[in-house]
Amino acid sequence: MAPIPKGSKVAVTGSAGFIGSWVVNRLLAKGYRVNACVRDAGDVEKTQFLRDMPGYATGRLKLFSADLDQEGCFDDAFAGCQGVAHLSHVSDYDDPDYMVRVCQHTIDSVNRAQTVNRVVVTSSIAAVISEADIKEVRRRPVFYEERYPDEENPKRTPERGQGYSMGKVALERMFSDAAAANGDWDCIVVCPADNVGPILAKHQKEKGPWQSIIASMLAGKYYQTGAYRPWMTVDVRDDAECHIRILESVDVANGERYIAWSTDARNVEDVCASIDRLLPELGHATPAVTDPFPERIQAREAELREIWACAELRNDRIKRVTGVEFRSLDESIRDCVESLLTVGQVEPVLREGFSLQK
Ligand SMILES: NC(=O)c1ccc[n+]([C@@H]2O[C@H](COP(=O)([O-])OP(=O)(O)OC[C@H]3O[C@@H](n4cnc5c(N)ncnc54)[C@H](OP(=O)(O)O)[C@@H]3O)[C@@H](O)[C@H]2O)c1
Repeated sequence: MAPIPKGSKVAVTGSAGFIGSWVVNRLLAKGYRVNACVRDAGDVEKTQFLRDMPGYATGRLKLFSADLDQEGCFDDAFAGCQGVAHLSHVSDYDDPDYMVRVCQHTIDSVNRAQTVNRVVVTSSIAAVISEADIKEVRRRPVFYEERYPDEENPKRTPERGQGYSMGKVALERMFSDAAAANGDWDCIVVCPADNVGPILAKHQKEKGPWQSIIASMLAGKYYQTGAYRPWMTVDVRDDAECHIRILESVDVANGERYIAWSTDARNVEDVCASIDRLLPELGHATPAVTDPFPERIQAREAELREIWACAELRNDRIKRVTGVEFRSLDESIRDCVESLLTVGQVEPVLREGFSLQK
């Protein structure tokens, strides 16, 4: 039940992913040893960028193949680690039995290691704000750590699109309970917002979903965001820093959760328009948004936007515990676009007379 020592060994699940790879990158920069867990270390397309990171040649960074669907999956990777940053997705958030099974696989590997002091578990703002009845946002508009979705609503089911939110709440509770039962490690939850920022590897342009939506904007077509919710964002680099500072913090306790967001919120159309505003030299041909929703949802657009406008986003707690100063969304969008063009090789649609500088 202690922070991880500086320079100690940390395992990161989901290391080939968008946020996980930034956690690996920042841990290495801070002098830690990193056991990076990916599903298939032999998949060069997804993992070569990790081998290219400083620390790989000397062995400070090691790669492990692990599929959390398998019992004992992280036993090798967690052995000798003081910290675990558990960032990987699971294969199916809609199946509660599967969620319990795969959380238990990871918990068992933590317990078997007998060296782990702290696990930071990545949940989501979906476990804070996702409501089966959106009017609940009007009733409880302050989005902070103690806020959970209305779990009593009978419409809160995977069939009605709440599986991800339900799965993340279940994950939070399972890990916190397991840590309390074990007594030798603690579990702190991070609930990241919509991550925007630079990708580190080409395959990440299809993930996110936020960077993949920006890639679509560059390529000339993008869709309205679900329920007309504005993007509520965090820069992926700040999110990674929050994960690490929580592993290091002397001011957190088992079971606590922290929302990682800058509190910037912006409608998807304004995100798209930001590309040309921030990078006028590029000459991006700003496309119009496509609204994919059925007529009955489109008829409620003004009402839904008005409900989201009530939301008050708070980050007092994570700022106090981590001291992170969150970047502006403008900076995140600019760096995301530039990485999509260079690392992601996205072909943008540009106005006449503009072309990419080669
Ligand atoms: N991106 C966001 O805006 C956002 C917001 C809130 C919360 N989150 C949470 O943050 C975490 C990371 O998100 P991300 O955007 O970085 O996702 P990502 O880029 O899709 O990366 C997730 C990683 O999870 C790994 N994974 C999936 N199924 C797995 C399995 N069965 N066993 C082992 N690994 C598995 C994948 O590994 P391989 O590539 O090796 O196959 C993938 O690289 C997730 O838990 C997500 O729910 C993300």
